[in-house]
Order: sequence, then C-alpha cells, then structure tokens
Amino acid sequence: MHIRPYEPKDAERCRMICIETATGHDTSLEKERKRLTTLFCDYFVENEPDVCFIVANDDDQAVGYIICAKNYAEYERVFRKEYVPRLKGIVPFHRLSCGVGLLSHRKYAKTHPAHLHIDLLPEAQRQGNGTKLMNCLFARLRELDVPGVFLGVSEKNTGALSFYRHIGFEELNRMFGTVIFGMKL
Ligand SMILES: CC(C)(COP(=O)(O)OP(=O)(O)OC[C@H]1O[C@@H](n2cnc3c(N)ncnc32)[C@H](O)[C@@H]1OP(=O)(O)O)[C@@H](O)C(=O)NCCC(=O)NCCS
Repeated sequence: MHIRPYEPKDAERCRMICIETATGHDTSLEKERKRLTTLFCDYFVENEPDVCFIVANDDDQAVGYIICAKNYAEYERVFRKEYVPRLKGIVPFHRLSCGVGLLSHRKYAKTHPAHLHIDLLPEAQRQGNGTKLMNCLFARLRELDVPGVFLGVSEKNTGALSFYRHIGFEELNRMFGTVIFGMKL
C-alpha cells in the first residue's frame, strides 16, 4: 500500500469508503448512503483536493483517505449554499439541523481553522497508514500556514479515540456523544 495525493478517479471509492466505515447506520438505505457522503465526503474531495490524501492498494485503488477543509469559515459558507440543499428530504429540517451542527463547531475553528475526516477500510487499518496520512496532511497544512486542525468523533468509537490520542490530538470538548479533538500545527 502507498500514500499519494487525491486524484479525481478516487471520488467514487472515497464515497464507498465513507459508507463502508460508518458504524451504527443502516447503509442498505439509499437515503442514508446519500446523507453520509453529502455530510462527510463530497465537499472535501470536490472543493479541496489539494488537502486530500489517499492510501491506495497495489492496483492504485483507494482503500482509505484523509480529507480536509483548510478554513472552516469558507467550508461553512460553501457547505450551506451548495451541500445543505442536497439534504432536502434526507435530513429532517435539513437547513435547521445542519445549521445548528455547523454553528456549534465555529468556536473550535477560531484556534484550529482546518477540519478533517479520516477513514480506512479494515484491510488498510492498523498498519501505520492512518499515521502516515495524518503526517502527510499536517506537512501540507504547515506549508499553507494553517495553524491548527479539529475533528469530531463519536465517543463510542474507542479505536479512533485511541488513535487520535496516539497522534497527539488534545480533547477540546465533549457534547451530545461527540468528542472534539484539536491539534495545533
Ligand atoms: C481510526 C483509523 C483512522 C486509524 O488508522 P490506522 O491506520 O488503523 O492507525 P495506525 O495503524 O496508524 O495506528 C497508530 C496507533 O493508533 C492507535 N490505534 C489505532 N487504531 C486503534 C484501535 N482500533 N484500537 C486501539 N488503538 C488504536 C494504536 O496506538 C496504534 O499503534 P499500534 O498499532 O502500534 O498499537 C482507522 O482505523 C479507521 O479508519 N477506522 C475506521 C473508520 C473510523 O473510525 N474513522 C474515524 C472516524 S472519526
């Protein structure tokens, strides 16, 4: 397996990985798959491929990713305008519920402007790939003078909690079953 920058050919596999690695969701439903990819994948690969990296198998197919928004304020602006409307009929009270979620994260972005998601298929896990993806992204964000990055993770996802602590993330807050982690760069 190898790490490389995101390429447009990876888009469909990134959506698949986003769905496959989501736990506690009924991903047999098309609506749920659309909700997950719209909330957690599409914005990043479609708008900020320069801060998205892939772990690929020997056939150069994506088996994991780290995807990022460099500046949460800009992410929020574009997400509200272009992505929230796609959730109509998929998320109840989509404008209100997405708005509340976006607003609740703004405070972390003051000190940690970038926002990330990382997901690897089981076949790519526990081989150091997540660590390599993080290091790749951190190096890129430092080049771009981004001072920090934050993320949210379910407090039930004990494996990911251990991973983020291992990488050196600091717990910034806990609310409604989600832990917010931040890293100064
Ligand atoms: C969480 C995840 C990104 C970690 O990536 P990874 O490549 O598996 O992690 P690494 O191999 O780089 O692990 C580095 C260290 O983190 C810790 N760690 C990683 N995964 C862990 C797990 N499942 N349980 C406990 N500790 C873990 C360990 O200390 C590990 O070192 P070790 O393997 O020498 O013990 C990856 O497993 C994953 O995508 N999981 C499923 C999707 C997910 O939960 N994504 C995060 C959503 S917020």
